[in-house]
Amino acid sequence: AASAGSGQTCLGPAAAIQDAKHKYERALAAMRERDQTTFIFVLHPEAISIKETRRATGELGKLGIANFRLIVNGIIPPEGAQNPLFAARGQMQARYLGQIEAGLPYAQQRMTLLPGEIKGIDRLRQVGRLFFDGQPATFAPLPTGEKPAAREATSLEAVRAVLEPDGRRRTVFFAGKGGVGKTVASCISAVWLARRGYKTLLLTTDPAAHLGDVLGVPVGDDPAAVPGVENLWAAKIDPKAAAETYKRRILEDARKRGRPETAIQVMAEELDSPCTEEMAAFDKFIEYAAQEGWQAVVFDTAPTGHTLRLLQLPVDWSKQLDVKIFASVDSNAADDVAKQRFGKVIEMMRDPGQSTFAFVMYPEATPILEAWRFARDLGTVGIHPGMVVANMVIPPEQADTPFTQSRRLMQEKYLAEIAVRFQAPLAQIPLLPGEIRGIEMLDTLGELVYGVEKVQA
Ligand SMILES: Nc1ncnc2c1ncn2[C@@H]1O[C@H](COP(=O)(O)OP(=O)(O)OP(=O)(O)O)[C@@H](O)[C@H]1O
Ligand SMILES: [Mg+2]
Repeated sequence: AASAGSGQTCLGPAAAIQDAKHKYERALAAMRERDQTTFIFVLHPEAISIKETRRATGELGKLGIANFRLIVNGIIPPEGAQNPLFAARGQMQARYLGQIEAGLPYAQQRMTLLPGEIKGIDRLRQVGRLFFDGQPATFAPLPTGEKPAAREATSLEAVRAVLEPDGRRRTVFFAGKGGVGKTVASCISAVWLARRGYKTLLLTTDPAAHLGDVLGVPVGDDPAAVPGVENLWAAKIDPKAAAETYKRRILEDARKRGRPETAIQVMAEELDSPCTEEMAAFDKFIEYAAQEGWQAVVFDTAPTGHTLRLLQLPVDWSKQLDVKIFASVDSNAADDVAKQRFGKVIEMMRDPGQSTFAFVMYPEATPILEAWRFARDLGTVGIHPGMVVANMVIPPEQADTPFTQSRRLMQEKYLAEIAVRFQAPLAQIPLLPGEIRGIEMLDTLGELVYGVEKVQA
């Protein structure tokens, strides 16, 4: 068991960290020196980006690091605002630019949204001139020869088939890079499933009230009915709180087994990792997954392959930790209950008749690549994409100015790439003029994305 454990957990060896302590101190001192180090935060004029920058600057501030600058990226230029959809988004950005001025008082540079992607030396040079010298970039529009063949749209029937329960409960996981629209996609899907008459539980691990913002109603720590949508319940899992409970359980267990207090301290430190939060949140999810009565469970953030590999290890992960610290631990101490519990869940996740992993991305190079890597990683534990969600797709009728047409063409190219990289039904969520909020909007979007008239009011 000891060898099975080594190198497979996310914990760094405590001794090595101790050795590196003086290096760490030196690096930290350099980072605190204003004339040696600058932290430049790149953000979009959007709520999530602002929240994340606030959090990161706050954390660094606690370490005495304070030399910050901002690059606010993706600002819609005047030629973009000739189109009503982008004009409306520009107005939303203006409000958030105000929030950035007020809440993040650092030197700031702005970068416009360009009509095409930034790829290759030539475009990098142009962007550099725009960014550093204020010279306009002259992106040639995509030559029409580059226009990809219009891809055969997936039938909505195929999409619905991987979303709706088929006799048994269906669990849908949304995976993807930060901010691509997992929460929005999970809300649209859960509301849609509930409207189809399935008793649905929507779960999030986002500790901020974001799910509640999107639904337009507060979401608590225990499943509660969502007012205005029959059959829909929602709950949030707070990963920090879950991690605390989890940590306490493991440390109490170690104490019971008579571990000395110094060793307990080392364990406590090692457990202070984002990995513990992911594990603990997933542990909590398993608890809900075991509950009877739900016909559909929608989980707004999928576990990574890494978490699932940990869960698959032959012994309980709390004992893995013990093994790392005390090589002498009884190797027969496999926790069969935990093993069976995880085993059943992983079996459920691998079965396409019961589970759908939905990969969310924008039709752009990086989000596709990241989703693909994520999918490949999950493939190593036998889980394959059940559905792909392309978000923020510019509706074809909005491609009515050179700017929007150029961006739509870029998206079409990447929609074609998505079809090549993922062999799964594709759902598309259109780019909207503002944020997605409230049941009414989710209802409308559900019908648009998944089709089919409402089954009940
Ligand atoms: N199709 C869309 N049109 C307009 N705005 C959108 C669209 N999809 C998402 N958004 C907005 O983008 C932001 C990010 O979406 P969301 O919160 O769903 O992403 P996420 O993947 O859940 O993020 P995180 O990784 O932080 O949990 C939100 O402010 C949301 O309102
Ligand atoms: Mg989210």
